[in-house]
Amino acid sequence: MLNQPDYTRYAEYYDFFELAGFSESKNTNSFLVDLFGINGVQTVVDFACGTGAQTIGLAKAGFKLTASDLNPEMVKVAQKKSKRLKNITFCCGDMCREKYGTFDAAICMFNAIGHLNRAAFLKFLLNAKNNLNAGGLLVFDILNYEAMKTSIFEEYAHMSKEVIIKDHLISHVRNCTLNKRKKQIEISSLICSQDGTHKPEKWSENWQMQIYTSDQIVRLLNKAGFKEIHIFGLNGTPFNNELSDSILAVAQK
Ligand SMILES: C[S@@+](CC[C@H](N)C(=O)[O-])C[C@H]1O[C@@H](n2cnc3c(N)ncnc32)[C@H](O)[C@@H]1O
Repeated sequence: MLNQPDYTRYAEYYDFFELAGFSESKNTNSFLVDLFGINGVQTVVDFACGTGAQTIGLAKAGFKLTASDLNPEMVKVAQKKSKRLKNITFCCGDMCREKYGTFDAAICMFNAIGHLNRAAFLKFLLNAKNNLNAGGLLVFDILNYEAMKTSIFEEYAHMSKEVIIKDHLISHVRNCTLNKRKKQIEISSLICSQDGTHKPEKWSENWQMQIYTSDQIVRLLNKAGFKEIHIFGLNGTPFNNELSDSILAVAQK
């Protein structure tokens, strides 16, 4: 098991720190909309919907979504943000186990598979396949280990941000190191919330994220029985083994 951040506590801050004020997933979503449009996709299951970064964009583009996440608080935020959209069904559950039906496409975006260890990742691939129609598409992304071994990692090694939410100044400092033996990124973070009157509230945590080379991803997709495997860089750009921060995989059942 890998440790995860406390998403229950982080849910209300997630969009501000991770989605750059809600706009972060725009390019990913346009890639998905184009890919799904070309392939005649109508129904999509989002296995780690978080606060809805892809779910909401895809629902607005007219796809019928089933959106799930392990963390109920993350789902609550996504539900709140998408009240007016009638084409989303929300659920809570583990992406490695849940069977929601069969869909034209399945997604798991923004490094969500990094929360799974390698054995659980293979379980996820098999479960995603089980949730897809014949010929259905699986799309996921994950940081590229080969690029993380280079100076590109420096961009990820340290983050320090401050935002004001409901009259509280929230500061977030995150430090990452690369564990080459385990191919994991080890993260320590400190969040501090202050309202200027009371004692600042602080919480710190340590967690890990499993990352992969593109060869490993292709091997695991083959092992799970996927075909037509294509590897892209972030948001569908051409993939470069040392220069692409992320691996975006598209595969067919
Ligand atoms: C980095 S967030 C990505 C969320 C969203 N896709 C986005 O782009 O913002 C990772 C999410 O994965 C979820 N998660 C972690 N392990 C999971 C599991 N086993 N099954 C389903 N969701 C999981 C977390 O609760 C969290 O919401």
